[in-house]
Amino acid sequence: MSWKDQIKQDKLPRHIAIIMDGNGRWAKRRGKLRIFGHRNGVKSVREAAESAAELGVEFLTLYAFSTENWSRPRSEVNALMSLLVSTIHKEIKTLHDNDISLKAIGDLQSLPPAIYKELQDAIKETAHHKRMSLVLALSYSSHWEITDAVRKIAQKVSDGKLVPEDINADLLSKHLTTRDIPDPELLIRTSGEFRISNFLLWQIAYAELYFTNKLWPDFRKEDLYEAIVDYQKRERRFGKTSDQVK
Ligand code: FPP
Repeated sequence: MSWKDQIKQDKLPRHIAIIMDGNGRWAKRRGKLRIFGHRNGVKSVREAAESAAELGVEFLTLYAFSTENWSRPRSEVNALMSLLVSTIHKEIKTLHDNDISLKAIGDLQSLPPAIYKELQDAIKETAHHKRMSLVLALSYSSHWEITDAVRKIAQKVSDGKLVPEDINADLLSKHLTTRDIPDPELLIRTSGEFRISNFLLWQIAYAELYFTNKLWPDFRKEDLYEAIVDYQKRERRFGKTSDQVK
């Protein structure tokens, strides 16, 4: 039976998040520049988005550029930014055809003006689509996001709009860039690295983690199906006992 046939529709995660890793190594193994790997990673982005939407997943979040990625060589940062602009531009039709809305999380103000504009235009143009939201994490890190949320809450306390006793987990969640997005149930990382790399640290408190050796440019629909089948075999206890959740 194929991986896809083993997926149980009634146990589908609503939200899958992916750390797309291994583009550089994929290119290096072929004697090419790192950007060749990023360019080939776009096909995997398309495959992941299409397969998630076809299955009925509601949110797919992709870690496309971290706050820390700004420290990469300038040539790689520039090439990645142009790739993001051109990909969003080229794929907008695919988003419309598949009823997918585009969203973005992260310190978007820090993006170059051209990519910021392309992104905001695409977000506005696709906002009415209902089948799935494709969320790009851009200039994102959890340390940035949580610090930003704390600063906003502190400002409200200082302005007398909140008192310290109002602060709880729910209030903090409402000040994160993911405020309108449910927490992911499944987090996938490619390339055989066992790290979270500052990605959705608050939101993955109870997510199931799945690591695969596949490098991101080699990631195909079957790989997403396999990860979902693995997720569906797990017992999610949320701190309770096995008997309590059965
Ligand atoms: C990590 O691989 C990948 C990235 C930092 C960028 C991912 C970007 C894309 C796939 C391009 C297009 C994306 C969208 C959403 C339009 P790495 O460079 O860290 O690889 P390495 O660990 O092998 O060096």
